[in-house]
Amino acid sequence: MTDSSDKLVSRDGHTVPLKRRASVLGADALEISGMAAATGAYGYDPGYAATISCTSRITYVDGEKGVLMYRGYAADELARNSNFEEVSWLLLHGELPKPSELQAFSDELKTLRACAPEVLATIAAMPAHAHPMSVIGAALSVMPAAHTDCIAPNDADHRRRFSHRAIAAMPTIAAAAFRHSQGQAPVSPREDLGHAANLLYMMFGKDPNPTAAKALDTLLVLHADHEQNCSTSTVRMAGSSGVNPFSSLAAGCAALWGPAHGGANEAVLKMLEAIGSPERIEEYIARAKDPNDPFRLMGFGHRVYKNFDPRATIIRDICHEVLKALRAGRGRLFRLARNLEEIALSDRYFKSRRLYPNVDFYSGIIYRAMKLPAEMFTPMFAIARTAGWAAHWCEMHEDPELRIGRPRQLYMGPKPRAYIPAEDR
Ligand code: CMC
Repeated sequence: MTDSSDKLVSRDGHTVPLKRRASVLGADALEISGMAAATGAYGYDPGYAATISCTSRITYVDGEKGVLMYRGYAADELARNSNFEEVSWLLLHGELPKPSELQAFSDELKTLRACAPEVLATIAAMPAHAHPMSVIGAALSVMPAAHTDCIAPNDADHRRRFSHRAIAAMPTIAAAAFRHSQGQAPVSPREDLGHAANLLYMMFGKDPNPTAAKALDTLLVLHADHEQNCSTSTVRMAGSSGVNPFSSLAAGCAALWGPAHGGANEAVLKMLEAIGSPERIEEYIARAKDPNDPFRLMGFGHRVYKNFDPRATIIRDICHEVLKALRAGRGRLFRLARNLEEIALSDRYFKSRRLYPNVDFYSGIIYRAMKLPAEMFTPMFAIARTAGWAAHWCEMHEDPELRIGRPRQLYMGPKPRAYIPAEDR
């Protein structure tokens, strides 16, 4: 495990041996914790692009090869053969469930779907025009008061109960937030429906279309986890202080909402609607390339994937099928998206920076075909990612190396100076 040949030589000739930790797949880690004491300097890594913050056994991403695996199983294989309940179990417990385990887990999730009255009351108290992501954050913040049997980070039974409850309740919270925004009362969950189908039922209050339910289930599988992304790292950062898991999830939801992360699916749809017709694509491409314009092509680019995002390829295919099956009349947006993708992929700016469509580029078109308003796209992402967040939160609290997350800074403010009395300023 340790290779003593890795070392860092500081400018005054100090040699710092760096302990190397070998990964099972992908990049190794060099332990730099001794660096500051030996050199008087910390590592500087804005955006943590070169920083490994923890060990994890859950998900593996190879950005060069476009590989995504949950617990060693390719996500595309899971998307074709599995379902969200099975994938949630896999993420949480490390192995594919035996049929009896899956049955028991699916049954347990059904019993945990209903929200506590105080959670529903919180949703009802929010302004109807509040974004569903802020409603979900508020609902999660009440959960520790409603579920005191699953909030202790150091208790394995609490952790297990929390993870199952969070996965089960998140669709109910999101559906209630959606209906609240429409001025409608929440619809109680149905125990005869699977996770995805029940979610559609709770949003629209009628039997879900099987094609839509199947497509939604696949989207949930593909969004379920993505190693140390911004929101998962936020869940871990908040959780490292020992706060209850629902508050960690609320922190994760806040991070997910941003347009550079899970908010991109909403932004993509709004961008496509703003572009409107193929003749205007060039104008938006030019804006995305202009360093003086903050506009970015939404749904394009990824910190880790530099050749393609495997999730985007599958979602593009589903999108085509769903639009046909639902006769959603949204072929125009899909064609526009294909057109935009083609033009961007042949453009030197995007090619040289290795920017490709990501998971969010086509998902919004599918959600729109299911008649979801754009504000509900990021909540759908949150429902899926709850499985990953819960798995990471549990894993973190089983890790003997857990320490509170506490990065340092390069101070660039004023040097020490004397207080100036108000009359002298
Ligand atoms: N449109 C135009 N230019 C872009 C884009 C884009 N979508 N993404 C990156 N670039 C440029 C960026 O300006 C920079 O150019 P230069 O080298 O000239 O300064 C270069 O590409 C590298 O970009 P970066 O900002 O250093 O890359 P990052 O790894 O820090 O950011 C990203 C990754 C996903 C935040 C970014 O690509 C982006 O903002 N994309 C649009 C938002 C989006 O689709 N987000 C969803 C991500 S996937 C799902 C998820 O994680 O939730």
